[in-house]
Amino acid sequence: MFRRKKKALVVYHSKTGHTAEAAEAVARGLESAGVVVDVRPVSKVSGDEISDYSILAVGSPTRGARPARMVKKFIKGLEKKALKGKPATVFTAYAGFRGRATLRRMRRLLKKRKARVVLRGVAVKAGAPLSLWKGPQASPKDVARLEELGKKLAKKA
Ligand SMILES: Cc1cc2nc3c(=O)[nH]c(=O)nc-3n(C[C@H](O)[C@H](O)[C@H](O)COP(=O)(O)O)c2cc1C
Repeated sequence: MFRRKKKALVVYHSKTGHTAEAAEAVARGLESAGVVVDVRPVSKVSGDEISDYSILAVGSPTRGARPARMVKKFIKGLEKKALKGKPATVFTAYAGFRGRATLRRMRRLLKKRKARVVLRGVAVKAGAPLSLWKGPQASPKDVARLEELGKKLAKKA
């Protein structure tokens, strides 16, 4: 029987490219599990498009031990109706301080919008603190963790 493929949105913000690379890794994981994936920056996604997707992954750089303001704003602006019960997870790139605090905050924001947050998410160490330039890249091990996150997320959907 013909079954339509599931569709996922990996949405992120990234100033120096580390979270963007993390988003690509999560997308590879989802794709490896047979999901169709769009990878898009938050600035290019409007809230009413969310209902086109059955899976959501949100990524942000860690800034001041929390997600970037525009990511927070993006999540807060999502309609509960569109997010209700939708499997979702989070990821962040951080330079070594409080990446997991960022994950926690993003999970909480998504839950408040009624998403079904199914995994704790992944924080990868990359970049330099307070830097406006690209720093060290995520380790291959961390990239594999991101891919695994995508794969597991697909299975929860
Ligand atoms: C304003 C600002 C605040 C930051 N705050 C933190 C922080 O609290 N903890 C941390 O580990 N890294 C912090 N960083 C470093 C970034 O999280 C890190 O460089 C990350 O890889 C950047 O991701 P991006 O390339 O996707 O923008 C900060 C960077 C900037 C520019």
